Amino acid sequence: MFELPKLNYPNSALSPIMSEQTLDLHHGKHHQTYITNLNNFIKGSEYEKLTLEDIIKKSSTEKKLGIFNNASQHWNHNLFWRCMKPNGGGNVPSKLENKIKQDFGSVKKFREEFINAGIAQFGSGWCWLSLKEDKLVVTKSPNAENPIIHNMKPILGCDVWEHSYYLDYKNKRPVYLENFFDKLINWEFVESLL
Ligand SMILES: [Fe+2]
Repeated sequence: MFELPKLNYPNSALSPIMSEQTLDLHHGKHHQTYITNLNNFIKGSEYEKLTLEDIIKKSSTEKKLGIFNNASQHWNHNLFWRCMKPNGGGNVPSKLENKIKQDFGSVKKFREEFINAGIAQFGSGWCWLSLKEDKLVVTKSPNAENPIIHNMKPILGCDVWEHSYYLDYKNKRPVYLENFFDKLINWEFVESLL
């Protein structure tokens, strides 16, 4: 049985960049629903004994969409919550900064590419910074899809489903993405996944 992970900060701690109301609903309701659905889907099946990552890979291969969508969204949100912290953003720690410079040219160019990926994702989905072999890449994905099914290791993910920003930013997804990048990212955590 999977359980909703606790956040490392109070639901009010990211306000006003991400409001308490958004976190109450997004973490307490949306994420919880993915977990409840996942537990119901896998109960009594061969999936029940697998790790979350193996559930995602197996259900993707077997095209079991109900399991895949809920398992992947559980994984995606687990990463998303840890990628943020109160008073986040700011300078990228040196090890990650050097890697970003090596693979994107500059932090500025990486920022632009990441935000543009989130803007360009048509409808619900995610934008990502992942390791592909040993190179950092920016990608976007629709709905629940996660880069791990394409043999990448995500180290930063931003939720661009409307439930993540609509209460605080209405239709202004670009402003949400800029604020996420500049004021919420927990760079030390992202670096720890390198
Ligand atoms: Fe979400």
